[in-house]
Amino acid sequence: MISNILDMKSKKEKIVMLTCYDFSMAKIFSNSGIDILLVGDSLGMVKLGYKDTLGVTMDDMVHHTKAVKNGNINNILLVTDMPYMSYEQDSKQAVINAKKLISAGADAVKVEGGKEILDSVKAIIDEKIPVVGHLGLMPQSINKIGGYKVQCRDEEAIKKLLEDSLALQQVGVFSIVLECIPEQVAKDITEKLDIPIIGIGAGRYCDGQVLVSDDMLGIFSDFTPKFVKKYAQLSQTITDAVKEYSQEVKNGKFPQESNTYK
Ligand code: KIV
Repeated sequence: MISNILDMKSKKEKIVMLTCYDFSMAKIFSNSGIDILLVGDSLGMVKLGYKDTLGVTMDDMVHHTKAVKNGNINNILLVTDMPYMSYEQDSKQAVINAKKLISAGADAVKVEGGKEILDSVKAIIDEKIPVVGHLGLMPQSINKIGGYKVQCRDEEAIKKLLEDSLALQQVGVFSIVLECIPEQVAKDITEKLDIPIIGIGAGRYCDGQVLVSDDMLGIFSDFTPKFVKKYAQLSQTITDAVKEYSQEVKNGKFPQESNTYK
């Protein structure tokens, strides 16, 4: 399956990645033309109500990966994020945690960082676990970056991004997510690297795109970055449905005879 994703770059076919966190959505997404399902640690914000991803634990990621695996009826490539503090410090711990995610049903894991985490990335890959990198805006470094803002605005940062991307490719990651960087910078990296580059807020020229499903479906409304396109307004649809249900229970319209057992 990973070879299909790599082939897509050579065939210039765009890769579609979407975050997914539960069984029912996995069943729907699995039948909707998605190439990669990502159990993102964004679940901390969109499913658990945290202000960032830092509080997400291995147990959270294992729990949601199991649910998505069960709903992934078409066996779409399933990637799970390694949460904050589960891989950066110690490569042995990184391998143990990556294996837990694979046991839960992931086909590959995603990690945030460049040269500074290469030992962990290499150790995971040495155990035959496929890895996706994540550079640019790295939400697990939010306290260091000081906010969700566009990255790589100067030459030094652009140079570092290219070096980190090449270093990750060199140790064997099979794809890299680039988040929130100028379009031209992402275009250059996409052209220079052999592995697929998947953008989120990284412009039109990446090999593929990823979005947070709750953003593009209009479920999560606390904050909408510029790079999000809302393909639906499910929050409004759900509000209307729940209000109608509530009214019908209160005025005796629901349940009807057809909803009852004889
Ligand atoms: O956690 C997540 O949803 C992600 C995407 C933003 C790529 O890493």
